[in-house]
Amino acid sequence: MPSRTEAFAPAKINLLLHVGDKRTDGYHELESLATFVELGDKLVFEAADTLSLTIDGPFGEGLAAESDNLVLRAARALAAHAGHTGGAKITLTKNLPVASGIGGGSADAAAALRGLVQLWDLEDVGPIAARDIAAGIGSDVPVCVESRTAWMEGRGEIVTFARPLPPALLLLVNPRVAVPTGPVFAALKTRSGVGTQQERIPYDGNIWGLTDFLAATANDLEAPALEIAPVIGGVLAALRMQKDVMLARMSGSGATCFALFKDDDAARAAADAIAAAHPEWWVQPARILG
Ligand code: C5P
Repeated sequence: MPSRTEAFAPAKINLLLHVGDKRTDGYHELESLATFVELGDKLVFEAADTLSLTIDGPFGEGLAAESDNLVLRAARALAAHAGHTGGAKITLTKNLPVASGIGGGSADAAAALRGLVQLWDLEDVGPIAARDIAAGIGSDVPVCVESRTAWMEGRGEIVTFARPLPPALLLLVNPRVAVPTGPVFAALKTRSGVGTQQERIPYDGNIWGLTDFLAATANDLEAPALEIAPVIGGVLAALRMQKDVMLARMSGSGATCFALFKDDDAARAAADAIAAAHPEWWVQPARILG
């Protein structure tokens, strides 16, 4: 058994998110194309008798290591599943804004499952069991376990890998306003419906094909999130006025928005311009993971 392991928790970007019917369990059917970027939180796991979590990093403050933190919930669920009785000293370096539509807590929980499987030597917990445990923690956690471009269906927990996307440099902008997911779904008025997109994906390996495909889709949660946090409209406007921008959209239930640009230089120039105009916003170029 190793005495120390590490895991990376990349940000998840919903390139499109279509919502269908509300189910009897209160969740909504959805269909989403999710991808991951080379930017995320970092977790370190050290052997210990009991379970503990320390949080640091730029967004660590304000995210108290409360007992229902998704990382601790994931650790407890994994230990219960495997009948493991040992603990772990977990350190989470929070680089991603909290409650921001890019995975955050879900990615951390998924990374905790990956890291603790190694630390606790639980290689018997295969991918199917890991996804089941993940789904019990949150709708977005299963897709984050693999952190590969994938379709999400059901309430989000049904994951099918998609072809890799072009390694474009996305620009992520968050206005530093936390937006909880439940109220955004509750304020939803218009739904695109689900089950129509996977057949249409035209990947010819370049950013033009991807943009054309995405332009005919939407994030249905953008309108309700805008009602709750109108500053999202300002973020989208700032992205859309940049030179050589091809598409700007909100991710997940917000408030983080992303934009695709003609090339890396255009993405970096836009990052500089937006950061200068809005020093209070979180502005990060981030490459799609291969
Ligand atoms: O699964 P998770 O705990 O992340 O979901 C948070 C909330 O978002 C749910 O309680 C529900 O109100 C809403 N939600 C939904 N439909 C989904 C996913 C989440 O209504 N597919």
